[in-house]
Amino acid sequence: MCGIVGYTGNREAAPILISGLKKLEYRGYDSAGVAVFHEGEIKIAKSHGKIANLDALTSGGASLPGFVGVGHTRWATHGAPNDVNAHPHLSDDGRFAVVHNGIIENYSALRDELIASGYEFKSDTDTEVISNLLEYCYDGDAKSTVMKATARLKGSYALGVICRNDETGITGRIFAMREAAPLILGLGVGENYFASDVTALVEHTKNIIYLDDGEFAELTPQKITVYGVTGEKIDKPVSHIMWDVKAAERGGYEHFMIKEIMEEPAAVKATIDPRIKDGRVVFEDFSFTSERMAKIGRIIITACGSASYAGEAGREMIEALCRIPVTVELASELRYRSPIIDESTLVIVVSQSGETADTIAALKESKARGAETIAIVNIVGSSIAKLADHVIYTWAGPEIAVATTKGYATQTAVFALLSIYFAELCGKIDGERYKKLVSELEKMPSKIQRAIDINHHIPYLSKLYADKKDVFFIGRGFDFAVCREGALKLKEISYIHAEAYAAGELKHGTIALIENGSLVVALACCRELYDKTASNVEEVKARGAKVLAVVHEDNKRAVSTSDDFILVPETEPLFTPIAEIIPLQLFAYYVAKENGCDIDKPKNLAKSVTVE
Ligand code: F6R
Repeated sequence: MCGIVGYTGNREAAPILISGLKKLEYRGYDSAGVAVFHEGEIKIAKSHGKIANLDALTSGGASLPGFVGVGHTRWATHGAPNDVNAHPHLSDDGRFAVVHNGIIENYSALRDELIASGYEFKSDTDTEVISNLLEYCYDGDAKSTVMKATARLKGSYALGVICRNDETGITGRIFAMREAAPLILGLGVGENYFASDVTALVEHTKNIIYLDDGEFAELTPQKITVYGVTGEKIDKPVSHIMWDVKAAERGGYEHFMIKEIMEEPAAVKATIDPRIKDGRVVFEDFSFTSERMAKIGRIIITACGSASYAGEAGREMIEALCRIPVTVELASELRYRSPIIDESTLVIVVSQSGETADTIAALKESKARGAETIAIVNIVGSSIAKLADHVIYTWAGPEIAVATTKGYATQTAVFALLSIYFAELCGKIDGERYKKLVSELEKMPSKIQRAIDINHHIPYLSKLYADKKDVFFIGRGFDFAVCREGALKLKEISYIHAEAYAAGELKHGTIALIENGSLVVALACCRELYDKTASNVEEVKARGAKVLAVVHEDNKRAVSTSDDFILVPETEPLFTPIAEIIPLQLFAYYVAKENGCDIDKPKNLAKSVTVE
């Protein structure tokens, strides 16, 4: 989704903005632009396609001198991805330039009103409405003008605004506003910043202010002032980011995705270790009692995409250990279907970014219906982290590749922790089993490392199967939960059509699609069920399919007729999904690489889906 950067200080703004935009590339975009204020004028450069085009157009920013500016990467919502629709958008008289992430829902009515007042529009975007509205509302003071204009906007927006000299004579001001879209402020020395997320700022400052919805910030080189909805000044706390600059760089790897897969043992360790103290599972943010647990009639896990598939693995763990009914609901569905949720429902939302619009809406809906909510989130200070009653952070560090890997692994690790924790409160686990599960969970980082180490042949397998047009992932129980994530990984980065099917469902329709040479990836790590899956393997083999079996490393005989094998280390059965996904991530990665795909930035996808 769109990325925003703003700078005011004593250095040339354009190179800083362009370098910030490069850091935001991972969010997904189709065009980019910058606006810089210099000698009484706002100058704009923008270009569709890669930031490299903008870089070339401005000679790395050198052709746009000036110390104050805003920049943008656009992921098209209103209007085609081209130079005209790229941001920043200038008002008719060139006084205001605006960058925007989100959707202005009343843009059509505002546009009609502005056209009736003589304004002309050059683009098809909803954002140009904002720049012209600013001009329309101009009262001589950029700050009060911005407040007046934004009061008329409906929808979601993170906005960055610059104004050429106004009547106040204050120079170097930029403005930032947030309403249901991510935006943070960065404090420097003699310079200040705003951006969509910390990756754009971490090389300049680690001191961050998280804006809340409805808040408005005025930035000058010397200070940042934040105002509330009614214009009152707000004292905002400054947070210190722990991320190292290197964490958001490729560090010698060819792609972020492979770097992030290699980081999974450490990410899962960082997520588990602080929550196991003296052999007991503890959460820093909350503690439930047995009485509270007894009042929970059911658990709903809600999320989008991979996060919902982590939820599917979580359901297997919680139901098995706690015997509480758990359902997994896609956030985009739950928000609109008048869900049956009340005080007896515990809702767990899962989100790497913490900014997914549908997940935020599902969380709000659940709270409004009286549920207590827990968020499993990676980004500190994100919207979901702020909204939920309790937060469990996945300490995965920055995840830059669009396809999540360590995000998913750490989310499933949190579900493992939660399931042990809840099981004790429910009185469903004895001391010995508790101890065993905790000790097995502590071994997961090394099991994940082993899952990487024993699959050196995956690049070779990828060459064999990279030309497939359709791939079917089948499995039962937790294997089926992992199938869904395995199929999503393959389709999103290699563009090969891949679907996950519960193996037992094959005969109810899908088997009609199996033909000579079809690839079936059969997950058979769920020991109680693998002989059933093995029968399904025979059925697809009989119809000419090639079978790639995913089995425990000591158990190739589980589906002995398979053509090839991917191996998974033996673990506590309930925690298998945390290790089982790793080779499937590697398989998707190497197939995409074999096919020359843009692995870290797959077409049409955005890292953080901040619009519906
Ligand atoms: C797939 C992927 C997406 C996200 C989904 C939710 O690799 O990354 O399916 O899982 O968009 O995003 P978050 O977790 O940020 O809410």
